[in-house]
Amino acid sequence: TEMALSDAAKLLQKARHVVVFTGAGISAESGVATFRDALTGLWSRFDAQSLATPQAFAEDPDLVWGWYEWRRQQVQQVRPNHGHLAVARLKDHVPQLTVITQNVDDLHERAGSDTPTHLHGSLFAPRCATCSRPAPLPATTEEQPAEGSRVPPPRCAHCAGPVRPGVVWFGEALPEQALESAVRAASSCDVLLTVGTSGLVYPAAEIPRLAARSGAAVIQVNPQPTPLDPLAAVNLPGPAAELLPALLTTTWP
Ligand code: APR
Repeated sequence: TEMALSDAAKLLQKARHVVVFTGAGISAESGVATFRDALTGLWSRFDAQSLATPQAFAEDPDLVWGWYEWRRQQVQQVRPNHGHLAVARLKDHVPQLTVITQNVDDLHERAGSDTPTHLHGSLFAPRCATCSRPAPLPATTEEQPAEGSRVPPPRCAHCAGPVRPGVVWFGEALPEQALESAVRAASSCDVLLTVGTSGLVYPAAEIPRLAARSGAAVIQVNPQPTPLDPLAAVNLPGPAAELLPALLTTTWP
């Protein structure tokens, strides 16, 4: 990977605008389960796809709210890893940096990337399912909701509707602002660094493809092959927490 690291470094050194596009894989080494990883993926344990839908919330709001509260409290127990920290350090080196994430955790923020674009929302932005007003985060109780436990969602202070997680569910549109700014950044960047995503879920997966079509050089960090391989000018096969710091020290020794 030394050759690939130096090729990637050459691209980053002369880049004016860099986009970092991340998926669940960048949080894997913090201990947050990915979705489709055969080993650690959430889906290998139980069918998240059936919980991450408006229908599931309508049918059983306590189960869905409980699952997301369990996931939020899992995130609060872990810390950003060296991959998140390297992404945050990028802003000290490149003239313009845009961080776009599919993740709903707050590990980029806690690593120092202050305004990542959350294409799939965030566990930390609950809102009323009826009137959409933002709702306060429930106080973190000392007892952890066990995985799969039912927790009745809080009620909206304004309209008494049920509070829902602030994440994008299957079948729902992505937040317009987030998608627009991601498309703008992908269309005008010189380098798009895609980290820890299987590149399978649209429209988010369109972002690296749009960057490549717009003439950006794509660098991929992933231990596994993905459909983005043919798109990448440089493929760095390996874990983000190891390769991203290595990429920064190779680029800016
Ligand atoms: N470093 C880098 N990449 C890793 C690591 C690691 N340490 N560990 C795993 N990966 C890679 C896997 O090889 C896989 O390609 O991370 C990717 C995780 O893929 P998914 O689980 O499909 O996650 P993601 O691509 O973010 O899914 C996109 O799908 O379920 C929806 O809304 C959800 O945002 C999510 C979207």
